[in-house]
Amino acid sequence: MNRRRFLGAAGGVAAVGWWSRRFVELSGAGPVLPQPPRASVANLTLRAAPGRAAVGSTSLDAWLYNGLLPGPTLRVQRGEPARIRLENQLPESTITHWHGLLVPEAADGHPRLAIDAGKTYEYAFTVDQPPGLSWYHPHTHLRTGYQVHRGLAGLIVIDDPANRTRGLPPAERELVLVIQDRTVMASGEVPYDLRGPAMMAGYFGDTILANGTPTPTQPVDAATYRLRILNGSASRIYKLGLTAPARMRIIGTDGGFLSAPVDAEEIMLAPAERLDLLVDFSASAGRQVSLETRPFTLPQGTFGPGGMGRGRDMMRGRQGDPGVIMHFDVGRTTERSAAVQLDARPTVPLPRGANERRFVFSSMMMDHTINGMSFDMERPDVRARAGAIERWTFVNDGPVPHPVHLHAAQFQVRTRTGGRNVVSPWETGWKDTVLVAPSEVVTVDVHFGPHPGLFLLHCHNLVHEDMGMMLNVALDPA
Ligand code: C2O
Ligand code: CU
Ligand code: CU
Repeated sequence: MNRRRFLGAAGGVAAVGWWSRRFVELSGAGPVLPQPPRASVANLTLRAAPGRAAVGSTSLDAWLYNGLLPGPTLRVQRGEPARIRLENQLPESTITHWHGLLVPEAADGHPRLAIDAGKTYEYAFTVDQPPGLSWYHPHTHLRTGYQVHRGLAGLIVIDDPANRTRGLPPAERELVLVIQDRTVMASGEVPYDLRGPAMMAGYFGDTILANGTPTPTQPVDAATYRLRILNGSASRIYKLGLTAPARMRIIGTDGGFLSAPVDAEEIMLAPAERLDLLVDFSASAGRQVSLETRPFTLPQGTFGPGGMGRGRDMMRGRQGDPGVIMHFDVGRTTERSAAVQLDARPTVPLPRGANERRFVFSSMMMDHTINGMSFDMERPDVRARAGAIERWTFVNDGPVPHPVHLHAAQFQVRTRTGGRNVVSPWETGWKDTVLVAPSEVVTVDVHFGPHPGLFLLHCHNLVHEDMGMMLNVALDPA
């Protein structure tokens, strides 16, 4: 799309777009937060195809799983076999990755497994890991960002049979929330324009969608709710907070429960990170509470996302922009919350003599590399062993943040020096994605899953990933 048409359609953006200055209040109560329909993985057909998705007052020209934005929420029990058939009805190749699940190589969605338009791929795996929130999205060579941007993403919940005895809210007080930013044109087009500063900082849209909906309003009781949140954005980091008295307790992250709840006022959530959150609305009966993203700046090098491109392209938001994600209309029905009993995956200390590896994430001259390397589909870059425990260090020596993600493993964050200089208490739980901001050095204890094969380490800023910030991790049999 040329620049002129892009700006020419800007008037239409105001109808649905509302970053900061362009904020337009929807009249009356907005739509509620839609909950994607659930699907079982026992015998599932997932059809990736072009479609339309209603977004506020317009409709989006999208690519969707089973016609839905986000796709169906897959609910699975631990130990349950999954049989999923991916049908590619897109005009290009694709492959689906189950982000957060420890699955065999053939089911992990490595880009070399992509199928052509019109073809199908059969996934067979057994989910064998603790309860938690994962997600699925395309992992197509050079096209992951674009395909996710067009709408291909959905959640996976590994159900917890012990929910009731943990003191967690009942199912009717559990909400899933996928946060994504997009610039939606009045025409329904969602341009993915990566020229100029976007090649460095990534894609930023001017509208935040909550489960595909701009600023929904969810009625809630003055009670405790469980919010299971995914940052499904290409590049945008959110600093989540609530506008009125309401307590946020984090009970889990990417890989499952924490060992105990952690209270938080503000939570940074980078692309691909997940949060399992209890929100107690009892102090706000009869009021409106908004979930917002607060302004922030990250330490940066000579030209960070805050400097580079600032003011240059008014069509895009920028990293650290404030905005409202959704509202909660709190009713007057109150209910005391119960004491919460979690059980985390046990921690195993780093064995003596464990392998240590160091990965330097660099962004220079519109080039994003790990240890100086760009992704090569066939070249194994790291050799490790399935089931092994290793200490990995991620170094960011450039000006832009990198949410670092590892397949086929879960890790715990041990240290963060430089930059923000702190490990948030919830980052010590089991994770598969960690934010490494400029100047930061982050160490994690990596626990590889049981499956040998060729897996991936990459930046989950999807623009960086597609530009090659990704390595192959070859796991030898245990
Ligand atoms: Cu969410 Cu390799 O990806
Ligand atoms: Cu993944
Ligand atoms: Cu990156």
